[in-house]
Amino acid sequence: GKTWKIAVLPGDGIGVEVIDATLPLLDAVAEQSGLHLVHETFPWPSCAWHRETGQMMPDDALDRLRGYDAMLLGALGDPGPLSDRSRHVLPDGISLAPLLTLRKEFDLWACERPARFYPGARRYLADPRSRDMDMLVIRENSEGEYVNQGGRLHRGTAHETATQVEVFTRVATERLVRHAFESAARRLEERRRGHLPARSFSDDRGGESGAQVCLVTKRNALPHWGELYTEVFNEIGRDYPDIGMHHELVDAACMKFVQSPWQFDVVVASNLQGDILTDLAAVLSGGMGVAPSCNIKPDDRGVPPLFEPTHGSAPDIAGQGRADPRAMFLTAAMMLEWMGVEDEAAQAAGLGIRRAVEKDLSEQHEDRGTAEITAAVLARLQPE
Ligand code: IPM
Ligand code: MN
Repeated sequence: GKTWKIAVLPGDGIGVEVIDATLPLLDAVAEQSGLHLVHETFPWPSCAWHRETGQMMPDDALDRLRGYDAMLLGALGDPGPLSDRSRHVLPDGISLAPLLTLRKEFDLWACERPARFYPGARRYLADPRSRDMDMLVIRENSEGEYVNQGGRLHRGTAHETATQVEVFTRVATERLVRHAFESAARRLEERRRGHLPARSFSDDRGGESGAQVCLVTKRNALPHWGELYTEVFNEIGRDYPDIGMHHELVDAACMKFVQSPWQFDVVVASNLQGDILTDLAAVLSGGMGVAPSCNIKPDDRGVPPLFEPTHGSAPDIAGQGRADPRAMFLTAAMMLEWMGVEDEAAQAAGLGIRRAVEKDLSEQHEDRGTAEITAAVLARLQPE
């Protein structure tokens, strides 16, 4: 089969540690499934980029990365010198810029963050029905609150004023919402085939459906993009009569994520609201230590998607070998499943990692560090 070329970007803080843990797992699972995969590591921590060149990335970074099939990123966010973690070398605006640059330059307009209950993972919710939680949050990843255009902090007057412009376009909204419905349709198909448990969700138009898209906005207070999103949602929803449609205001959505997360299936949200919802969903599913994520361009498989866990560089625990690498493992599994659309060996490899992580999670463990978790998951890879 095809030889997949992966660009590995360890990044900062625990990003380096979880990537170190993941590469041997990837190699082992590739060997086991007959998958042809090569990876090259680009050790470009944000502090080094900045110190050496005054820029966020080497000049030719994007061109070099463009030649790969996918990118696997640990985490970005400069934790500062290890000798003095209280001192941050770079402001977030600089050390996080590469992440936003990669998303923007490769037009990775959808960010997918699945959040499901894993038996054995830490449970923050007491209600036993939270075991049925299995949602996919699809976050707009190219515009909205993140455009950083036009606004500024007006200084030098008695009333300093900051303006921050948000931009929402019909084109970006349509592709996002259609992708959400397509994802829901795929989940419905999986349920019909018995690969996923059958579910029932409400439909705002009446009745119940086996899959649902929930649109999140704040249209009561932010009416303009709320209207655009709602209009597009209603238009595109007409093409998917089998998929339930539901709307939540973002504050109510937060409340219901905690109260009854099993009522959500596919959730579609703006860039910032999706950012916030996905940290919440991650913790409800067992914590940042088990929350995978990807940035993709669903309408173009020719650009390398960016796979990164939802968690950040965690300066507070960086360098101590305490990071939970399982979010990164599940992120690698997502990457393999993305490859699996074209390559059966990749599909098998992704499933191999997923099963190994799930088995590991399902056992009760004392406090373990990165190395112990990695060894345990590696051992679980072997077919029993
Ligand atoms: C994420 C992160 C980033 C974001 C930060 C690091 C800019 O929180 O991937 O969720 O806000 O998108
Ligand atoms: Mn975030």
